Amino acid sequence: MAKQIRLFRLNNGAKIPSVGLGTWKADHGVVGDAITAAIKAGYRHIDCAQRYGNEKEIGNTLKKLFEEGVVKRDELWITSKLWCSDHAPEDVPLALNRTLGDLQLDYVDLYLMHWPVSMKKGSVAFEPENLTSVDIPSTWMAMESLCDAGKARAIGVSNFSSKKLGDLLGIARIPPAVNQVECHPGWQQQQLHSFCESKGVHLSGYSPLGSSSNHGSNMLKNPVLNLVGERLGKTPAQVALRWGLQMGHSVLPKSTNEKRIKDNFDVFDWCIPQDLCDKFTEIEQVKLITGNTFVHETLGYYKTIEELWDGEI
Ligand code: A2P
Repeated sequence: MAKQIRLFRLNNGAKIPSVGLGTWKADHGVVGDAITAAIKAGYRHIDCAQRYGNEKEIGNTLKKLFEEGVVKRDELWITSKLWCSDHAPEDVPLALNRTLGDLQLDYVDLYLMHWPVSMKKGSVAFEPENLTSVDIPSTWMAMESLCDAGKARAIGVSNFSSKKLGDLLGIARIPPAVNQVECHPGWQQQQLHSFCESKGVHLSGYSPLGSSSNHGSNMLKNPVLNLVGERLGKTPAQVALRWGLQMGHSVLPKSTNEKRIKDNFDVFDWCIPQDLCDKFTEIEQVKLITGNTFVHETLGYYKTIEELWDGEI
């Protein structure tokens, strides 16, 4: 009998559902239906962000689902993220209030610093001129106050290297519960995984399917994923997601297609045996989301991609 791995326990005692619906690039007009399909299929975790520009539609959909009695607020895990132009301590609570207004919620289950990168207040474009210096400790103190106020039940970070996470752990009053990073069989994050595990920080994987149509990656065509899928009678996408769960990561597959949304949730009643898990070490490792728009050789706080990731790339 396969271990189901439906929840992971965080360092604040909360339990995060292991499969969440990703909403990055889930467009207007379809994201609401995707949320409905996911919740009806059994998802209880939705991964949002102010930057994705679709929180209003998600909020309208959630309201309808609550009113219709399809799901209750306290049965859901909702994550959102603080954008880089709201890092000034006084802007942090305003940004969360905006998100809560859009989502029509009183609290989020998890609020993340989206990137360890700061941009000028009000800036929208990814122009190097908009990059500013970064002061993670002062932003984090403001994040901690959101936890104190009960507006965020847990707080965490995203796109943090082991180095940046370690520095934050050194000064945090409330340690980050989660580091949400790119993670899939083609970018397995072994070093970061070990570091997070040793510090009690849960690693949550975005783009768990290798961001297939977004970054020109062909991860779902990878021979190992296909071989394992054929042996187990599963799709390469299901294999990638199940691998993430067995590694101890929550996974956040994005889909706006009802069939794929359902397929991506069929990852609990079976498992990848150890001999097939071992084959994942053969997969070539390539980081897809480098954050290159956040670095600039003269105007950036981080001058190079290596600096942004502290060489962990
Ligand atoms: P779609 O929304 O049309 O399903 P990631 O979460 O790794 O960034 O990957 C998301 C991409 O993978 C989206 O383009 C999504 O497209 C596609 N996708 C999601 N689920 C599956 C699946 N089961 N099989 C193939 N592609 C998928």
